[in-house]
Amino acid sequence: MDKLLISGCGPLDGDIRISGSKNAALPILAAAILAETPVNLSNLPHLKDVTTMLALLRSMGVGITIAENMLVEIDISSMNEFEAPYDLVRTMRASILVLGPMLARFGKADVSFPGGCAIGSRPVDIHLKGLESMGAHIEVDGGYIRATAPNGLKGAHIFMDVVTVGGTENLLMAATLAKGKTILENAAREPEIVDLANFLVAMGAKIEGIGTDRLTIEGVAHLKGCHYRVMPDRIETGTYLVAAAASRGRITVRDTHADILEAVIMKLEEAGAKITLGDDWIALDMEGKRPKAVNLKTAPYPAFPTDMQSQFTAMNAVAEGTGTVVETIFENRLIQVHELNRMGAQIKLEGNTCIITGVERLKAAPVMASDLRASASLVIAGLVADGDTLVDRIYHIDRGYECIEEKFQALGATIRRVAQ
Ligand code: UD1
Repeated sequence: MDKLLISGCGPLDGDIRISGSKNAALPILAAAILAETPVNLSNLPHLKDVTTMLALLRSMGVGITIAENMLVEIDISSMNEFEAPYDLVRTMRASILVLGPMLARFGKADVSFPGGCAIGSRPVDIHLKGLESMGAHIEVDGGYIRATAPNGLKGAHIFMDVVTVGGTENLLMAATLAKGKTILENAAREPEIVDLANFLVAMGAKIEGIGTDRLTIEGVAHLKGCHYRVMPDRIETGTYLVAAAASRGRITVRDTHADILEAVIMKLEEAGAKITLGDDWIALDMEGKRPKAVNLKTAPYPAFPTDMQSQFTAMNAVAEGTGTVVETIFENRLIQVHELNRMGAQIKLEGNTCIITGVERLKAAPVMASDLRASASLVIAGLVADGDTLVDRIYHIDRGYECIEEKFQALGATIRRVAQ
């Protein structure tokens, strides 16, 4: 199994390009099921999760043509299977996103239950309840969600109890082809949902309230294919900015923008970073200084994203002072703390809060990645540790970070993939 070998380095310094957003690409690929003519997507990141979503679509008979630079054409006209099998769903929870589009377009869908995962129980009850209020009949049988809507879905007024990104996306996609009007209340407002909604509109959907917590969708009879460019990955953007800040370095991240990342940028400024913004780039300069510890609490967008929490924990581990990180979205999402402490960090874990007292430098150790974002924190920690850190189970990293070694090498880090 591959591992990452990271040598502790000085300040990171350089420019990198940010890839397309994984969390926008996945629902957009699922939404292609709604189109009657081929969809062309660009700026898709070349990542394990994207490959899994393409494999899932292919397993259902969908035509997929991949040209250079991950320009992908998706042709649903040959789709002849309506099941998302366990083998694929268990490797990627976001497979649940095909449920709404399949049901809306074909009136049937069997999707393996995603089940638990390393960062908590993560139920899908809100997805299912919403689809039921749109007229779907849902049974759970043999570990599968078996959903039917023989006469099509119908519009409904849905209030979601919890702010859920995937739930909002599934119901939004389903509503585009439902008969009549759907109102989604307490909808998530993440930029990836805005990107999905813009893609749906480009295919002919009628959606109002995009970017707000109340989405109104007037169902249409057909959606047609279009060409769409996926937005930049705000979490990848944030991860490299935090890595540069932790290393007292400077960085310019290109092909991205700041307005999808305001909470993160404010925290970096609080940590002492000098930030300059352009239309499609963000520059950060620590001017050689050690970051100052910051306090943060995760919450749905526009508040601080849970997907950036572990990276800030790693930065706080080498910052001046004491910082507190509170996770409110997922249980068990502070698991990186134990591995960071093995590298000499001083972090106390109390329920969903960790209290981090910064040390000058961490010490290298063999560590194990446990989920996608937690693994990013171990890479950052390896960069600011003395000695060589070996990060195991990096398949978690490959789910979400395109060319991570090459990008860090471009910033002057010594990092390579080793097979062991
Ligand atoms: C998405 C992101 C993930 C991010 C998360 C929160 C993708 C592919 N993944 O995950 O990177 O960390 O948003 O920003 O976009 N919940 C329920 N019932 C449901 C659905 C969710 O109780 O039916 C709860 C979850 O357990 C969790 C909270 O709602 O506590 C938020 O989860 P959700 O926003 O749905 O996360 P995902 O869409 O799975």
